[in-house]
Amino acid sequence: MKLSISRYNPERDAKPYLQDYEIDLCQSDHMLLDVMLRLKQQDNTLTFRKSCREGVCGSDAMNINGRNGLACITPVRGLKEPVVLRPLPSFPIIRDLVVDMTHFFAQYHSISPFLINGDSPPGRERLQSPEERDMLNGAYECIMCGCCSSQCPSFWWNPDKFVGPAGLLQAYRFIVDSRDQATPQRLENLNDAYRLFRCRTIMNCSEVCPKGLEPSHAIEMIRLKMLKELP
Ligand code: SF4
Ligand code: SF4
Ligand code: FES
Repeated sequence: MKLSISRYNPERDAKPYLQDYEIDLCQSDHMLLDVMLRLKQQDNTLTFRKSCREGVCGSDAMNINGRNGLACITPVRGLKEPVVLRPLPSFPIIRDLVVDMTHFFAQYHSISPFLINGDSPPGRERLQSPEERDMLNGAYECIMCGCCSSQCPSFWWNPDKFVGPAGLLQAYRFIVDSRDQATPQRLENLNDAYRLFRCRTIMNCSEVCPKGLEPSHAIEMIRLKMLKELP
């Protein structure tokens, strides 16, 4: 298999460049990450993040043949060759395929990604009806891989002002949580020309999410809730 992988060592290179690799596929190569791990044995300077190998941690998000995805759940057979691997677009590159996610996580923290409830904790747990619990489906599964925000043009230009699809999906996750008591403050926090309304409904985010989530739908639902609930 032929691969072309973006390389960048800030101590040596003025800018990123593509390096070609060739490797024979073996029986145990199912996903792209399997091949990358073997490539790393050939060239231990090749740098990328990975951890769970199961599509759960989100750390091996990268741009694969022009589309963001997770290397560990991308079947390697069938990929068009040479397989071109680049770091997540628009995020500052630290080295090779490793990007700086500072803005991304700052936006995530800006939406207060935790339950806010002033009542004294009950003896065991805060209960929900099955219907209330169902409202979290499609939002709680996000693994914060960054594939969506990195493929969102509105986030490219304003990563410091626009929360981005991943952060907004998490905002929605708490807005619709029946146990959370901070919906008005959460809506107010997003009621801004940039933080929420910079989304232009281009829908790259939903198109690319490797977990099949739909941040653009969540953004639309927040807008509707604002219309109904904010003065
Ligand atoms: S919404 Fe999807 S693409 Fe975006 S961070 Fe969450 S899991 Fe990744
Ligand atoms: S729908 Fe909004 S958040 Fe999603 S990619 Fe488009 S502009 Fe970005
Ligand atoms: S290694 Fe964890 S999501 Fe791919």
